[in-house]
Amino acid sequence: MTANNRVALSSDHAAIELRQAIAAHIAAHGWEPVDIGPTSPESTHYPQHGQAAARLVASGDCRLGIILCGTGQGIMMAANKVKGVRCGVCSDTFSARMIRQHNDANMLSIGARVVGEGLALDIVDSFLHAQFEGGRHATRVEMIEALEG
Ligand code: RB5
Repeated sequence: MTANNRVALSSDHAAIELRQAIAAHIAAHGWEPVDIGPTSPESTHYPQHGQAAARLVASGDCRLGIILCGTGQGIMMAANKVKGVRCGVCSDTFSARMIRQHNDANMLSIGARVVGEGLALDIVDSFLHAQFEGGRHATRVEMIEALEG
């Protein structure tokens, strides 16, 4: 069995170029981007795109997910409504690493109107390279899961 290196990607209209740059970047580093769009610059609705990527992660089809909108906030809120998803918005590399190490986040959200491309790619690298530490953090993640009902 091969490792699941698939990373779901989606955004709204505010983040198409950055999403595509991230897809190319992670593909060049051994990940398989599953970019579900959109590609049109027409105004669209971030909840549907956040939910679609979140379902790919929650089902196990993709190991991780990266989603984007203008601030990263709205699409993160939508993704976190899907059971089994833990998504954080990050504008710095420390947070991107910590949401994996301590929170076992399986999705990362970035605001395309908040950070530039160079920082966004570093944030993505920090997220993808970090590993969940387990231990006391696993207890807390289980407590989050219990809130899902
Ligand atoms: C779209 O204008 C904008 O509201 C959206 O990209 C996002 O920032 C919402 O959280």
